[in-house]
Amino acid sequence: ELRDVSRRDSTAVPHALDLTVRPRRNRKAEWARRMVRENVLTTDDLIWPLFLIDGTNKREQVASMPGVDRLSVDQAVREAERAMKLTIPCIALFPYTDPSLRDEEGSEATNPNNLVCQAVRAIKKQFPEIGILCDVALDPFTSHGHDGLIADGKILNDETVAVLVRQALVQAEAGCDIIAPSDMMDGRVAAIREGLDRAGLLDVQIMAYAAKYASAFYGPFRDAIGSAKTLTGDKRTYQMDSANSDEALREVELDIAEGADMVMVKPGLPYLDVVRRVKDTFAMPTFAYQVSGEYAMIAAAANNGWLDGDRAMMESLLAFKRAGADGVLSYFAPKAAEKLRSQA
Ligand code: PBG
Repeated sequence: ELRDVSRRDSTAVPHALDLTVRPRRNRKAEWARRMVRENVLTTDDLIWPLFLIDGTNKREQVASMPGVDRLSVDQAVREAERAMKLTIPCIALFPYTDPSLRDEEGSEATNPNNLVCQAVRAIKKQFPEIGILCDVALDPFTSHGHDGLIADGKILNDETVAVLVRQALVQAEAGCDIIAPSDMMDGRVAAIREGLDRAGLLDVQIMAYAAKYASAFYGPFRDAIGSAKTLTGDKRTYQMDSANSDEALREVELDIAEGADMVMVKPGLPYLDVVRRVKDTFAMPTFAYQVSGEYAMIAAAANNGWLDGDRAMMESLLAFKRAGADGVLSYFAPKAAEKLRSQA
């Protein structure tokens, strides 16, 4: 039986439409909008990626990411303190490796005293209560800019996985809390989990970059870690084709079976549909990475006065919550946290 929505005569208000349902009533005032709001962003939802560079008391602007600097370890410690004060639960560390330390095999990745490990130790010594996530992939360390080892122009899967396990182990031994493999090699989560278990590092979490796409939006990141100029070819034989989403579910399923504690979709906004499917299908802690190119687009438009940067930032971050994400890796993290705390 259909309800007749035009049954009433609203004679009290001249020219009123005969509407029983008026969705705008719930939006009539700020208090009403707050009352029916479905999703909220809090500082607990944020993971802040930081770029590291060798030296002391050094900050170097990343040209393609206005407002983002490469930091020497002492400066990274200061930013970790800032994160803690802003109640951001976790930071993520990415190194700009000096070109003299890059080689075909990415050997520096497994150096227990590399920049990432130095930063982990320094931060954990002063602020043991902040979470630290470390990326696992060889691209900051290889002369060719790829995430894995290469032979005859091909990225070698199993040989790469063996190196990634050693990279994960030096980072975990330095005190990192979350290992985040971003390389997209097959079988790496299982191998890393086994390596951690054998080393007795049972509490180290794995956040798998489970559905990571071959994306144009990583451009500014490659600038930040210094692999943009050296990268030969593309990463399409290991990162996912942007046309696919069933495949993302298969990738996520594998990483969960292999021992991932949390999963991630990357990039962020262009792949919100994938975030939603992953969350609905697996009900796992699910994260999204608002990547460098997404940051750069908003920052550049804001700097040109083409949009309200703060509002675009908050709207984009909230979109991840709406899509079902439990948290977001974002270069906006400190700015967004400051805004959230000033509103609280
Ligand atoms: C390394 C890695 C990349 C990003 C995170 N880890 C770049 C890539 O895969 O080429 C991108 C992050 C960003 O763009 O903000 N494998």
